[in-house]
Amino acid sequence: MTDAAGQKDLTPEQRADDGRAPRARREDPFPVKGMDAVVFAVGNARQAAHYYSTAFGMRCVAYKGPETGSRDEAAYVLESGGARFVLKGAVRAGTDLGRHVAEHGDGAIDLAIEVPDAETAYRHAIAQGARSVEAPHVLEDEYGKVVVAAIAAYGETRHSLVQRADYSGPYLPGYVAVDPVVAPPAKRYFQAIDHCVGNVELGKMDEWVEFYQRVMGFTNMKEFVGDDIATEYSALMSKVVADGTRKVKFPLNEPAIAKKKSQIDEYLEFYGGPGMQHIALATGDILHAVDAMRASGVEFLNTPDSYYEDPELRERIGEVRAPIEELQKRGILVDRDEDGYLLQIFTKPVQDRPTVFFELIERHGSLGFGKGNFKALFEAIEREQERRGNL
Ligand SMILES: [Fe+2]
Repeated sequence: MTDAAGQKDLTPEQRADDGRAPRARREDPFPVKGMDAVVFAVGNARQAAHYYSTAFGMRCVAYKGPETGSRDEAAYVLESGGARFVLKGAVRAGTDLGRHVAEHGDGAIDLAIEVPDAETAYRHAIAQGARSVEAPHVLEDEYGKVVVAAIAAYGETRHSLVQRADYSGPYLPGYVAVDPVVAPPAKRYFQAIDHCVGNVELGKMDEWVEFYQRVMGFTNMKEFVGDDIATEYSALMSKVVADGTRKVKFPLNEPAIAKKKSQIDEYLEFYGGPGMQHIALATGDILHAVDAMRASGVEFLNTPDSYYEDPELRERIGEVRAPIEELQKRGILVDRDEDGYLLQIFTKPVQDRPTVFFELIERHGSLGFGKGNFKALFEAIEREQERRGNL
Protein backbone atom coordinates (compact mmCIF):
# COMPACT_ATOMS: atom_id res chain seq x y z
CA MET A 1 0.00 0.00 0.00
CA THR A 2 1.35 3.40 -0.93
CA ASP A 3 1.44 6.17 1.62
CA ALA A 4 -1.28 8.03 -0.22
CA ALA A 5 -3.57 5.02 -0.27
CA GLY A 6 -2.97 4.46 3.42
CA GLN A 7 -3.86 8.05 4.16
CA LYS A 8 -7.27 7.58 2.56
CA ASP A 9 -8.34 5.35 5.41
CA LEU A 10 -7.62 8.06 7.93
CA THR A 11 -9.91 10.86 9.00
CA PRO A 12 -8.56 14.38 8.39
CA GLU A 13 -7.89 14.55 12.13
CA GLN A 14 -5.82 11.37 12.11
CA ARG A 15 -3.92 12.53 9.06
CA ALA A 16 -3.04 15.71 10.84
CA ASP A 17 -2.02 13.74 13.85
CA ASP A 18 0.94 12.15 12.17
CA GLY A 19 2.33 15.68 12.05
CA ARG A 20 4.24 15.18 8.82
CA ALA A 21 1.84 14.73 5.92
CA PRO A 22 1.60 17.97 3.96
CA ARG A 23 -1.61 18.04 1.97
CA ALA A 24 -1.45 18.66 -1.74
CA ARG A 25 -1.75 22.35 -2.54
CA ARG A 26 -4.96 21.87 -4.54
CA GLU A 27 -6.77 20.35 -1.56
CA ASP A 28 -5.75 23.17 0.73
CA PRO A 29 -8.55 25.72 1.09
CA PHE A 30 -6.16 28.25 2.60
CA PRO A 31 -2.60 27.72 1.33
CA VAL A 32 0.08 29.67 3.19
CA LYS A 33 3.75 30.30 2.44
CA GLY A 34 4.81 30.87 6.05
CA MET A 35 4.90 33.58 8.70
CA ASP A 36 5.32 36.99 7.08
CA ALA A 37 6.07 38.98 10.24
CA VAL A 38 5.13 39.50 13.84
CA VAL A 39 4.10 43.12 14.29
CA PHE A 40 4.45 44.62 17.76
CA ALA A 41 2.93 47.74 19.24
CA VAL A 42 5.48 49.18 21.66
CA GLY A 43 5.88 52.26 23.81
CA ASN A 44 9.10 53.32 22.13
CA ALA A 45 9.90 51.65 18.82
CA ARG A 46 13.27 53.36 18.46
CA GLN A 47 14.51 51.85 21.72
CA ALA A 48 12.84 48.49 21.06
CA ALA A 49 14.68 48.34 17.71
CA HIS A 50 17.91 48.84 19.61
CA TYR A 51 17.05 46.04 22.05
CA TYR A 52 16.20 43.50 19.36
CA SER A 53 19.31 44.53 17.41
CA THR A 54 21.76 44.28 20.28
CA ALA A 55 20.17 41.56 22.43
CA PHE A 56 18.56 39.34 19.76
CA GLY A 57 21.16 39.96 17.07
CA MET A 58 18.53 41.10 14.55
CA ARG A 59 19.29 43.35 11.58
CA CYS A 60 17.24 46.51 11.13
CA VAL A 61 16.39 46.61 7.42
CA ALA A 62 13.56 49.11 6.97
CA TYR A 63 11.87 52.08 8.60
CA LYS A 64 8.93 54.40 8.25
CA GLY A 65 8.13 57.47 10.32
CA PRO A 66 7.44 61.17 10.09
CA GLU A 67 10.50 61.63 7.84
CA THR A 68 8.99 59.25 5.28
CA GLY A 69 5.47 60.61 5.48
CA SER A 70 4.10 58.39 8.24
CA ARG A 71 2.62 61.07 10.50
CA ASP A 72 1.15 58.85 13.23
CA GLU A 73 3.63 56.09 13.80
CA ALA A 74 7.25 55.09 13.53
CA ALA A 75 8.03 51.51 12.57
CA TYR A 76 11.28 49.55 12.44
CA VAL A 77 11.60 46.25 10.57
CA LEU A 78 14.11 43.76 11.96
CA GLU A 79 15.15 40.44 10.52
CA SER A 80 17.14 37.39 11.52
CA GLY A 81 17.19 34.89 8.66
CA GLY A 82 13.53 34.31 7.78
CA ALA A 83 12.21 35.77 11.05
CA ARG A 84 10.81 39.27 10.73
CA PHE A 85 9.64 41.59 13.52
CA VAL A 86 8.02 44.97 12.93
CA LEU A 87 8.11 47.34 15.90
CA LYS A 88 5.57 50.15 15.82
CA GLY A 89 5.33 53.14 18.14
CA ALA A 90 3.04 56.16 18.18
CA VAL A 91 4.67 59.51 17.41
CA ARG A 92 1.76 61.61 18.68
CA ALA A 93 -1.16 61.39 21.11
CA GLY A 94 -4.56 60.08 20.19
CA THR A 95 -3.66 57.15 17.95
CA ASP A 96 -5.13 53.66 18.12
CA LEU A 97 -1.59 52.32 18.37
CA GLY A 98 -0.98 54.46 21.46
CA ARG A 99 -4.25 53.32 22.99
CA HIS A 100 -3.25 49.69 22.36
CA VAL A 101 0.02 50.19 24.22
CA ALA A 102 -1.73 52.01 27.07
CA GLU A 103 -4.17 49.12 27.45
CA HIS A 104 -1.96 46.10 26.84
CA GLY A 105 1.61 47.25 27.24
CA ASP A 106 4.08 46.19 24.57
CA GLY A 107 2.62 43.26 22.67
CA ALA A 108 1.95 41.64 19.32
CA ILE A 109 -0.86 43.19 17.30
CA ASP A 110 -0.46 41.18 14.12
CA LEU A 111 0.68 37.65 13.36
CA ALA A 112 1.00 38.28 9.65
CA ILE A 113 0.91 35.28 7.32
CA GLU A 114 2.34 35.23 3.82
CA VAL A 115 -0.12 33.74 1.34
CA PRO A 116 0.11 33.13 -2.43
CA ASP A 117 -3.19 34.95 -3.00
CA ALA A 118 -4.46 37.42 -0.37
CA GLU A 119 -7.82 38.06 -2.04
CA THR A 120 -8.70 34.35 -2.24
CA ALA A 121 -7.46 33.68 1.29
CA TYR A 122 -9.47 36.60 2.64
CA ARG A 123 -12.66 35.58 0.81
CA HIS A 124 -12.33 32.04 2.11
CA ALA A 125 -11.76 33.26 5.66
CA ILE A 126 -14.76 35.60 5.58
CA ALA A 127 -16.98 32.92 4.04
CA GLN A 128 -15.95 30.68 6.94
CA GLY A 129 -17.04 33.26 9.49
CA ALA A 130 -13.85 35.26 10.17
CA ARG A 131 -14.34 38.93 11.05
CA SER A 132 -12.87 41.38 8.55
CA VAL A 133 -10.34 43.93 9.78
CA GLU A 134 -9.12 45.13 6.38
CA ALA A 135 -10.55 44.27 2.98
CA PRO A 136 -7.95 43.29 0.36
CA HIS A 137 -6.11 46.28 -1.07
CA VAL A 138 -3.03 46.86 -3.20
CA LEU A 139 0.02 48.75 -1.96
CA GLU A 140 2.46 49.87 -4.62
CA ASP A 141 5.78 51.64 -5.02
CA GLU A 142 8.78 51.45 -7.32
CA TYR A 143 9.62 47.94 -6.05
CA GLY A 144 6.32 46.44 -7.16
CA LYS A 145 3.04 45.63 -5.47
CA VAL A 146 1.78 43.85 -2.40
CA VAL A 147 -1.80 42.76 -1.72
CA VAL A 148 -2.79 42.90 1.93
CA ALA A 149 -5.97 41.96 3.81
CA ALA A 150 -6.55 41.28 7.50
CA ILE A 151 -8.88 39.22 9.67
CA ALA A 152 -9.45 39.31 13.42
CA ALA A 153 -7.97 36.69 15.74
CA TYR A 154 -8.13 36.37 19.56
CA GLY A 155 -8.34 39.54 21.63
CA GLU A 156 -7.13 42.53 19.65
CA THR A 157 -4.74 40.41 17.60
CA ARG A 158 -5.11 40.25 13.84
CA HIS A 159 -3.79 38.13 11.02
CA SER A 160 -2.70 40.15 8.04
CA LEU A 161 -2.68 38.10 4.85
CA VAL A 162 0.24 39.30 2.76
CA GLN A 163 0.79 38.50 -0.92
CA ARG A 164 4.28 39.73 -1.77
CA ALA A 165 5.50 37.59 -4.70
CA ASP A 166 5.54 40.68 -6.95
CA TYR A 167 7.45 42.87 -4.53
CA SER A 168 11.19 43.36 -4.12
CA GLY A 169 11.35 46.22 -1.58
CA PRO A 170 12.73 45.90 1.95
CA TYR A 171 9.31 45.29 3.58
CA LEU A 172 6.15 46.99 2.35
CA PRO A 173 5.47 50.08 0.25
CA GLY A 174 5.87 53.10 2.52
CA TYR A 175 8.98 51.73 4.21
CA VAL A 176 12.51 52.76 3.24
CA ALA A 177 15.63 50.65 3.49
CA VAL A 178 17.96 51.67 6.33
CA ASP A 179 21.34 50.73 7.66
CA PRO A 180 21.32 48.47 10.73
CA VAL A 181 20.82 50.21 14.11
CA VAL A 182 23.94 48.38 15.24
CA ALA A 183 26.10 45.98 13.27
CA PRO A 184 24.52 42.50 13.38
CA PRO A 185 26.59 39.63 14.82
CA ALA A 186 28.71 37.51 12.50
CA LYS A 187 26.58 34.46 13.31
CA ARG A 188 22.78 34.73 13.59
CA TYR A 189 21.21 33.70 16.86
CA PHE A 190 18.08 32.31 15.15
CA GLN A 191 16.78 31.71 11.62
CA ALA A 192 12.99 31.53 11.67
CA ILE A 193 9.80 31.84 13.66
CA ASP A 194 8.95 28.32 14.78
CA HIS A 195 5.59 29.02 16.44
CA CYS A 196 3.54 31.81 18.00
CA VAL A 197 1.47 30.99 21.06
CA GLY A 198 -1.83 32.63 21.97
CA ASN A 199 -3.32 32.85 25.45
CA VAL A 200 -7.12 32.85 25.53
CA GLU A 201 -9.66 32.89 28.35
CA LEU A 202 -10.74 29.87 30.39
CA GLY A 203 -12.97 27.68 28.24
CA LYS A 204 -12.08 29.44 24.97
CA MET A 205 -9.22 27.27 23.72
CA ASP A 206 -11.41 24.84 21.78
CA GLU A 207 -13.33 27.71 20.19
CA TRP A 208 -10.11 29.13 18.79
CA VAL A 209 -8.83 25.71 17.71
CA GLU A 210 -12.11 25.35 15.81
CA PHE A 211 -11.65 28.86 14.36
CA TYR A 212 -8.29 27.98 12.80
CA GLN A 213 -9.66 24.67 11.52
CA ARG A 214 -12.70 26.29 9.94
CA VAL A 215 -11.20 29.57 8.69
CA MET A 216 -7.70 28.51 7.66
CA GLY A 217 -8.10 24.77 7.21
CA PHE A 218 -5.44 24.24 9.89
CA THR A 219 -5.33 20.87 11.60
CA ASN A 220 -4.44 19.76 15.11
CA MET A 221 -0.91 18.65 15.78
CA LYS A 222 -0.63 15.73 18.14
CA GLU A 223 0.73 17.65 21.08
CA PHE A 224 -1.85 18.76 23.56
CA VAL A 225 -1.76 19.39 27.27
CA GLY A 226 -5.00 18.13 28.77
CA ASP A 227 -6.44 17.77 32.27
CA ASP A 228 -3.97 15.08 33.26
CA ILE A 229 -0.86 17.22 32.97
CA ALA A 230 -2.57 20.59 33.28
CA THR A 231 -4.06 20.30 36.72
CA GLU A 232 -1.07 18.53 38.23
CA TYR A 233 1.85 20.40 36.74
CA SER A 234 1.47 23.10 34.15
CA ALA A 235 -1.57 25.19 35.13
CA LEU A 236 -2.46 25.49 31.48
CA MET A 237 -4.30 23.56 28.80
CA SER A 238 -2.86 23.68 25.32
CA LYS A 239 -3.58 22.51 21.78
CA VAL A 240 -1.63 23.22 18.62
CA VAL A 241 -3.03 24.01 15.18
CA ALA A 242 -0.88 24.26 12.05
CA ASP A 243 -1.18 24.60 8.30
CA GLY A 244 -0.72 21.53 6.12
CA THR A 245 2.97 22.20 5.54
CA ARG A 246 3.61 22.86 9.27
CA LYS A 247 5.27 26.19 8.48
CA VAL A 248 2.74 28.15 10.51
CA LYS A 249 2.12 26.71 13.96
CA PHE A 250 -0.17 28.32 16.52
CA PRO A 251 -0.38 26.69 19.96
CA LEU A 252 -3.32 28.00 21.98
CA ASN A 253 -3.36 28.05 25.77
CA GLU A 254 -6.11 28.52 28.29
CA PRO A 255 -5.70 28.60 32.07
CA ALA A 256 -6.19 25.47 34.16
CA ILE A 257 -7.05 25.38 37.83
CA ALA A 258 -3.87 23.98 39.29
CA LYS A 259 -1.84 23.96 42.47
CA LYS A 260 -0.86 27.55 41.92
CA LYS A 261 -2.39 30.49 40.08
CA SER A 262 -2.09 29.82 36.39
CA GLN A 263 0.59 31.68 34.45
CA ILE A 264 -2.10 32.14 31.80
CA ASP A 265 -4.37 33.93 34.29
CA GLU A 266 -1.49 36.21 35.17
CA TYR A 267 -0.96 36.99 31.49
CA LEU A 268 -4.66 37.67 30.86
CA GLU A 269 -4.81 39.97 33.89
CA PHE A 270 -1.73 42.01 32.99
CA TYR A 271 -2.22 42.04 29.22
CA GLY A 272 -5.84 43.00 29.71
CA GLY A 273 -7.28 40.09 27.76
CA PRO A 274 -6.23 37.43 25.28
CA GLY A 275 -3.09 37.96 23.24
CA MET A 276 0.11 36.48 21.97
CA GLN A 277 2.13 34.97 24.78
CA HIS A 278 5.40 33.86 23.23
CA ILE A 279 7.25 33.46 19.99
CA ALA A 280 9.53 30.48 19.58
CA LEU A 281 12.58 31.25 17.49
CA ALA A 282 14.18 28.37 15.60
CA THR A 283 17.94 28.23 16.06
CA GLY A 284 20.61 25.92 14.70
CA ASP A 285 22.88 26.52 17.68
CA ILE A 286 21.00 27.13 20.91
CA LEU A 287 24.17 27.09 23.02
CA HIS A 288 25.70 29.94 21.05
CA ALA A 289 22.40 31.85 20.94
CA VAL A 290 21.89 31.63 24.72
CA ASP A 291 25.47 32.66 25.44
CA ALA A 292 25.31 35.65 23.10
CA MET A 293 21.87 36.81 24.20
CA ARG A 294 22.66 36.37 27.89
CA ALA A 295 25.88 38.37 27.41
CA SER A 296 23.71 41.14 25.93
CA GLY A 297 21.42 41.16 28.94
CA VAL A 298 18.57 38.82 27.98
CA GLU A 299 17.32 36.98 31.05
CA PHE A 300 16.33 33.33 30.76
CA LEU A 301 14.30 31.20 33.16
CA ASN A 302 16.39 29.13 35.54
CA THR A 303 16.20 25.37 35.52
CA PRO A 304 16.87 23.48 38.78
CA ASP A 305 20.02 21.32 38.85
CA SER A 306 17.81 18.36 39.69
CA TYR A 307 16.45 18.53 36.14
CA TYR A 308 19.85 17.38 34.90
CA GLU A 309 21.11 15.35 37.84
CA ASP A 310 18.00 13.34 38.60
CA PRO A 311 18.61 9.77 37.27
CA GLU A 312 15.06 9.43 35.94
CA LEU A 313 15.41 12.65 33.98
CA ARG A 314 18.90 11.82 32.80
CA GLU A 315 17.45 8.64 31.38
CA ARG A 316 14.69 10.61 29.68
CA ILE A 317 17.09 13.14 28.15
CA GLY A 318 19.19 10.33 26.66
CA GLU A 319 21.82 11.12 24.04
CA VAL A 320 21.76 14.65 22.71
CA ARG A 321 24.20 16.61 20.58
CA ALA A 322 25.82 18.48 23.48
CA PRO A 323 27.12 17.28 26.85
CA ILE A 324 24.44 17.53 29.56
CA GLU A 325 26.82 19.73 31.57
CA GLU A 326 26.75 22.32 28.78
CA LEU A 327 22.95 22.32 28.79
CA GLN A 328 22.86 22.49 32.58
CA LYS A 329 25.24 25.45 32.68
CA ARG A 330 22.79 27.38 30.51
CA GLY A 331 19.48 25.96 31.76
CA ILE A 332 18.54 24.49 28.36
CA LEU A 333 15.72 21.95 28.48
CA VAL A 334 15.35 18.74 26.47
CA ASP A 335 12.16 17.07 25.32
CA ARG A 336 11.97 13.83 23.44
CA ASP A 337 9.32 11.97 21.47
CA GLU A 338 9.22 9.12 18.99
CA ASP A 339 10.47 11.40 16.17
CA GLY A 340 13.53 12.79 17.92
CA TYR A 341 14.32 15.48 20.45
CA LEU A 342 14.36 19.22 20.87
CA LEU A 343 16.35 21.67 22.96
CA GLN A 344 14.54 24.73 24.29
CA ILE A 345 14.81 27.60 26.73
CA PHE A 346 12.47 30.44 27.68
CA THR A 347 13.28 34.06 28.38
CA LYS A 348 11.71 36.03 31.18
CA PRO A 349 9.10 38.57 30.02
CA VAL A 350 10.83 41.20 27.87
CA GLN A 351 8.76 44.21 28.95
CA ASP A 352 7.54 45.65 32.25
CA ARG A 353 4.33 43.66 32.27
CA PRO A 354 4.61 39.88 32.93
CA THR A 355 3.23 39.09 29.50
CA VAL A 356 5.21 38.46 26.30
CA PHE A 357 8.35 36.33 26.30
CA PHE A 358 10.45 34.35 23.83
CA GLU A 359 11.62 30.79 23.41
CA LEU A 360 14.67 29.49 21.58
CA ILE A 361 14.14 26.06 20.06
CA GLU A 362 16.61 23.73 18.35
CA ARG A 363 14.81 20.77 16.79
CA HIS A 364 16.38 17.40 16.08
CA GLY A 365 13.50 15.49 14.52
CA SER A 366 10.94 16.22 17.21
CA LEU A 367 7.83 18.05 16.06
CA GLY A 368 6.72 18.71 19.64
CA PHE A 369 6.63 21.86 21.73
CA GLY A 370 8.18 20.72 24.99
CA LYS A 371 5.15 19.30 26.76
CA GLY A 372 7.31 16.74 28.53
CA ASN A 373 9.17 19.51 30.27
CA PHE A 374 6.15 20.64 32.27
CA LYS A 375 5.94 17.31 33.96
CA ALA A 376 9.66 16.69 34.13
CA LEU A 377 10.40 20.05 35.71
CA PHE A 378 7.65 19.85 38.28
CA GLU A 379 8.44 16.26 39.15
CA ALA A 380 12.10 17.10 39.59
CA ILE A 381 11.15 19.95 41.92
CA GLU A 382 8.81 17.67 43.86
CA ARG A 383 11.49 15.00 44.26
CA GLU A 384 13.74 17.68 45.75
CA GLN A 385 10.95 18.83 48.03
CA GLU A 386 10.46 15.24 49.12
CA ARG A 387 14.16 14.89 49.94
CA ARG A 388 13.83 17.93 52.17
CA GLY A 389 10.74 16.37 53.79
CA ASN A 390 8.51 19.12 52.50
CA LEU A 391 6.09 17.27 50.31
FE1 LIG B 1 6.65 27.32 22.71
